[in-house]
Amino acid sequence: MKTNNQKIAFITGITGQDGSYLAEQLLNKGYTVHGMIRRSSSFNTGRIEHLYIDKLRQHQSTNFKLHYGDLTDFTSIFFILNEIQPDEIYHLGAQSHVQVSFEIPEYTADSIALGTLRLLEAVRALKMEKTIKIYNAVTSELYGKVQEVPQTETTPFYPRSPYGVAKLYAYWIAKNFRESYGMHISNGILFNHESERRGETFVTRKITIGIGDILAGLSDKISLGNIDAERDWGYAPDFTEGMYQMLQLDYADDFVLATGEKHSVREFCIKAFAVAGITLRWEGKGVDEKAYDTKTNKLLIDINPKYFRPAEVEQLLGDPSKAIKALNWNPTQTPFDELVRRMVENDIKISQQKADALRN
Ligand code: NAP
Ligand code: GDD
Repeated sequence: MKTNNQKIAFITGITGQDGSYLAEQLLNKGYTVHGMIRRSSSFNTGRIEHLYIDKLRQHQSTNFKLHYGDLTDFTSIFFILNEIQPDEIYHLGAQSHVQVSFEIPEYTADSIALGTLRLLEAVRALKMEKTIKIYNAVTSELYGKVQEVPQTETTPFYPRSPYGVAKLYAYWIAKNFRESYGMHISNGILFNHESERRGETFVTRKITIGIGDILAGLSDKISLGNIDAERDWGYAPDFTEGMYQMLQLDYADDFVLATGEKHSVREFCIKAFAVAGITLRWEGKGVDEKAYDTKTNKLLIDINPKYFRPAEVEQLLGDPSKAIKALNWNPTQTPFDELVRRMVENDIKISQQKADALRN
């Protein structure tokens, strides 16, 4: 139930990494938060379970609610919006894995490109276009084969995957609706952001889980693809705070959120293993490159070409100056080394618990 000053937010993708942090932050700011979840044959609410539990403890039943829906299903979006009448929409839902998008390009385009169009059309059909503020999650993958370094809001786009191309449509349809209908829609061009809740098949989390599993005796080594790729990696909760700040402006615009620093996958491996007290020694080149523990000579990393992509984004480096100025946003509140440390320590703990459970 809406009280006078209580804002209502609707989050698509609430069960994902970013959605879960954003839901927490908005609840802490006093929002009522509604999220869209997909029907799944197994639980997909692991990242937001604690919000339910907090809710039960505090006997609050009205400020956090989940609704079944899907971005490929206009009707569900329409009915949810009509029921909840949100002040702000954070549109984060997407098939967000770049490599997977080469395997399911049509579904990726449906959920991302048409999904964004469906959401915006539902807002218009409900005549909410003048009252709602919308955050649209786009991506540094738009820059793909980068045309300048670092990338800013005016750098030309050159996407390199079906995911990137679908997000290009999402970017332009949001901009078009902003210009055509005066809608308050901001595109967040976010560079990679990671956390303890990062999906397990993205490279940073794959590495930190791999380290945890190796230390716990659950796995021997980590197999990776292109370890020379460079990314501008930030900390997810810092970035979701930036999304919120975009919607507090009285105008809509496009903003790059990035740290302004880039690191290679190889460097991430070196730093992550160092957190676990292991120094890597690299040998070989290309697909034959391997990393060993300098103390024990145990093989810890090898290359498997199955993780190479048909077209690769070799490097990404963002310039967040515009967001820093307009939003007073701090891109490196959580510095890179701290991000790596948090992820590794978290996954060492989880793997240890897994190993203990297997023994008992
Ligand atoms: P994520 O962890 O993969 O979460 C994606 C979310 O979208 C999940 O809640 C997922 O639901 C939901 N979803 C997928 N397909 C859907 C569909 N057809 N209908 C409704 N919901 C659907 O992604 P993230 O890292 O939090 O990223 C959030 C958004 O920012 C995404 O749009 C992503 O493309 C974009 N982005 C991310 C980064 C990054 O580095 N993290 C950078 C730039 C842009 P299930 O849980 O049921 O799968
Ligand atoms: N996933 C994965 N697995 N990537 C690997 C691996 C591996 O085993 N080995 C090397 N890589 C390289 C990839 O080729 C890529 O160059 C880089 O590591 C990062 O891959 P991901 O972590 O999968 O992220 P991404 O950059 O492709 O996409 C993420 O960031 C985008 C923003 O730039 C996703 O979160 C996208 O949704 C997001 O838009």
